[in-house]
Amino acid sequence: MEKKQYIIRLAEDRDIRQVAEIDQEAFSEEQLFRSHSSYHREIHNPLARYIVACTEEKYEPNVNKQIMPDIPWYKRLFSYERHNEFAHNEQYILGFAGLWIMPDEGHISAIGVRNNYRRRGIGERLLISLIDLATELNIKTISLEVRVSNEAAQSLYRKYEFQTIGRHPHYYSQNGEDALLMSTNIITSAPFQARFQQLKEAHQRRWKECSVTI
Ligand SMILES: CC(C)(COP(=O)(O)OP(=O)(O)OC[C@H]1O[C@@H](n2cnc3c(N)ncnc32)[C@H](O)[C@@H]1OP(=O)(O)O)[C@@H](O)C(=O)NCCC(=O)NCCS
Repeated sequence: MEKKQYIIRLAEDRDIRQVAEIDQEAFSEEQLFRSHSSYHREIHNPLARYIVACTEEKYEPNVNKQIMPDIPWYKRLFSYERHNEFAHNEQYILGFAGLWIMPDEGHISAIGVRNNYRRRGIGERLLISLIDLATELNIKTISLEVRVSNEAAQSLYRKYEFQTIGRHPHYYSQNGEDALLMSTNIITSAPFQARFQQLKEAHQRRWKECSVTI
């Protein structure tokens, strides 16, 4: 077990396998994406942004030593890509989140954290990053759908000033559960930003270096 810092960055193709694992774990039957190609499409969708929380990138020479013998020496000379790919694969993804960008509005398509890493501030950190992204993109409000029974997620969203503005009956096909539609006020407004900065600072103080034991 080792304490590792985690970072938030945009999702990339190399993350798809782990993101799919988390998607399956967090959303089960309501999994967002059903295939590698749908993740790929979504990650490259210019009207969406996907982010991941992952352990910091670190070059691990030992890992490469194990892998490199399979590559002929002459290819090793030019194997930066492959070498780098394995180094990158060392990043462990703890959670992911997505934002669809619509005219004036952002819509959260997903926030999911691995079961074993919940209640450590990671979901909140992902939400903070989505709000930062939306602010940079001049998005006015952020909305989302959430199961009526999903107390944990609703509590996270309420903490960040999302309010329930509607209800979609039988929204989830798997069990016919209703969805609550939640939305923020204008995120660039002074009151929203003031509260958001307070919450961000409180998160930083509480979770210090954003680290987890792996
Ligand atoms: C919702 C989810 C993303 C929260 O992630 P997390 O990393 O465990 O949450 P955090 O530790 O950052 O908690 C932040 C806030 O969320 C709320 N929260 C999280 N888990 C909660 C729980 N089990 N019960 C009540 N509130 C909870 C609290 O308001 C918490 O703030 P607090 O620590 O000041 O009480 C996570 O539970 C998850 O992946 N669930 C399955 C997927 C899902 O439902 N996604 C949302 C779909 S709309």
